[in-house]
Amino acid sequence: MIRSLRGMNDTLDIDDSARFSYFIQTATRIAKNYGFRFIETPQLEETALFKRSVGESSDIVGKEMYQFTDKGDNDVCLRPEGTAGVVRAFVQNKYDRQETVQRLFYHGTMFRYERPQKGRLRQFHQFGCESFGEANVLEDASLILMVRDIFNALGINFTLKLNSLGDSNCMPQYRDTLIEFLGSNEEDICEDCKRRKATNPIRVLDCKNSHCQEIYADAPKLMQNLCEGCDTDFKALTNILDEHGLSYEIDTHLVRGLDYYSKTAFEFISTEIGAQSAIAGGGRYDRLVEFLDGRPTPAIGFAIGIERLMELIKMPETSREGYYFGAMDENAINLAYKIGMKKRQRDKVTIGYKARNLKAHLKAADKADAQYCVILGENELKNKTLWIKDLVDKTESEIPQSEF
Ligand code: HAM
Repeated sequence: MIRSLRGMNDTLDIDDSARFSYFIQTATRIAKNYGFRFIETPQLEETALFKRSVGESSDIVGKEMYQFTDKGDNDVCLRPEGTAGVVRAFVQNKYDRQETVQRLFYHGTMFRYERPQKGRLRQFHQFGCESFGEANVLEDASLILMVRDIFNALGINFTLKLNSLGDSNCMPQYRDTLIEFLGSNEEDICEDCKRRKATNPIRVLDCKNSHCQEIYADAPKLMQNLCEGCDTDFKALTNILDEHGLSYEIDTHLVRGLDYYSKTAFEFISTEIGAQSAIAGGGRYDRLVEFLDGRPTPAIGFAIGIERLMELIKMPETSREGYYFGAMDENAINLAYKIGMKKRQRDKVTIGYKARNLKAHLKAADKADAQYCVILGENELKNKTLWIKDLVDKTESEIPQSEF
């Protein structure tokens, strides 16, 4: 028997697919309230796109890409994340030349060749938002508050971790100070960190090795070495979050696994799902549009990992919606179908195609999660009426077909 690949799952279970659609529906509604509109980009892109954005020294590009040469001899890969493709589309479609702020959201499958375990898949889904053209720290606050709103709407508890990664004024200087610190501890740090020291030193700060972490407790902190602009913005951001009652932890070791960030970086963590606890992550990436050959454009975004939320989402008590149409008499099937099809133009409608007794239809309406069960039998045909049961408040009524 041919089986699905490791770390790649089917979503078949009724509960899971209901949760999945409920998540997309809720997140889409909230993103639209914040002024975002939908964008879809391809799942396959040139490998160079991710090398230049996510960064060659990152684990994602260095170890986890589904990369291959296609039949036209192009070096391509399945997208490991959504931001790079959205930025490419933004530049390719010349949105970087427009003066207006562009706010885009997307959802879809991402691919990372990681070691599969609970909450860590090789094919997974993200819901992401990217905002272009707004340098004001109010936008940083808005995106973080939007993630809060999405999680609150779904009944998900979280902890927010926040850091600033500085900008081109203060980061290079900090990097030198950190390299110096790593040099004086060269004997004691792990092999990975020795390599990171040469390729991307700030990534040492989230090394999983506990001995390294003991050493880095004394490492210089970027938070204390921010330039005036970054420092002012970070304080302004925390003030806005305070004003909106959103608590956070400042985590000076939060560096994120992708190289494109500057200034604000954040992660939402759940303590209820085991080791893979990050349920969303994001930050500012003011230099990325330029790196991908666009006009310099400030930008910020986030992505939520949908699979990690599945067991946390609290579904609404009743999901009943729309109508079920059933006929109790062979002669009524056509009319039930006709009225059902009309109603379908505006509402969710399920139509039973066979004449059955009332009990069978009520059962089918219940299974279809309909709010109303509408029945046409011999009497209703004669009287030109419809029998309706509201499956939420359990009331029954008979109304003229013309009124329906
Ligand atoms: P990321 O932190 O790499 O950021 O991924 C965002 C979220 O995707 C994670 O917090 C996690 O919930 C989920 N995720 C990541 N890898 C896996 C996996 N192997 N299996 C299941 N879920 C996973 C980004 O991807 C950035 N593009 C976010 C962003 C958007 N930054 C700015 N704009």
